[in-house]
Amino acid sequence: MRTIDWDEDRAAVRLIDQTRLPAEYEVVYCERVDELIAAIKELKVRGAPALGVAGALGVVLACKSASKGEIERAVMKLKEARPTAVNLFYGIDRAYRAAKRGKTPEEMEELALAEANRLIEEDIAVNRKIGDYGSVLLEDGDVVLTHCNAGRLACVEWGTALGVIRAAILQGKHIEVIACETRPLNQGSRLTTWELMQDKIPVTLITDSMSAVVMRGGMVNKVIVGADRVVKEGVINKIGTYMHAVLAKEHGIPFYVAAPTSSFDLEHGYEDIEIEERSPEELVYCGDTQIAPADVRVYNPAFDFTPFELIEALITEKGVFHTPIKLI
Ligand code: MRU
Repeated sequence: MRTIDWDEDRAAVRLIDQTRLPAEYEVVYCERVDELIAAIKELKVRGAPALGVAGALGVVLACKSASKGEIERAVMKLKEARPTAVNLFYGIDRAYRAAKRGKTPEEMEELALAEANRLIEEDIAVNRKIGDYGSVLLEDGDVVLTHCNAGRLACVEWGTALGVIRAAILQGKHIEVIACETRPLNQGSRLTTWELMQDKIPVTLITDSMSAVVMRGGMVNKVIVGADRVVKEGVINKIGTYMHAVLAKEHGIPFYVAAPTSSFDLEHGYEDIEIEERSPEELVYCGDTQIAPADVRVYNPAFDFTPFELIEALITEKGVFHTPIKLI
């Protein structure tokens, strides 16, 4: 099943609830835009490309409102769901631009849905191309470290960083993966291991703080991660990415970023971008168990910035761009 899609029969957004994995596989339906906004905030749907599709489908739900003014307000609320991944805004803008060509809310909904469906098909095709271009960088026997989840659960299907690995395996190469757990929300341990094991791709789980040891010990020969936003001077991605990039440089291990060009925002530098800060509870609790004093001061940014100097190449649907990366 696709990670996120439009359900014709229910006129709703259908998505895999990623907060329940790996313990439970549950599909949820959002019939109203406020339900989808809540799902985005709670990370039921997450990962930059999937957020792009969620944004576009959210506009379809917003068009169920009675007037153009209400639709506009709903679209604005949708834009506030999460600040960092540029794809959310890309998807919203595309669908809303298409919708605005309609005269009535019904026409607007139809036009937004057609555009959202185009975006869904594009996402699938783009991911396949990223995989094909990136797969030439992987050799038979490689062990690839990855962070967070840049797999099919972060896209409609296939994945960006994990799509590269899937494509290399399809070519007959033996590739193994080391998945970093990705504290505090554990997208690596909950989602990356789950989807790789579903495909019978060999994966070993480590804590984030073990990456130096596995790199120094020669247990990894490449790193591939995704991106939430590619800016002028580098890449914004899940917190912890920068640490792995610094370590990879120190140990002479190529560090790659796989991302669609819809994640590019080259007009901005990283200091212009709002890095989402999430709730202190994510660090104070592990499930229902309290693991820190309730009133401890917490710093919990969800993303960090990695400069191009630390990145060997960017893998996109338009090809592989090696360093020195000159995007502007
Ligand atoms: O907070 P999340 O889970 O939405 O963060 C996701 C990531 O950081 C991914 O690495 C990124 O979106 C690339 S997904 C292809």
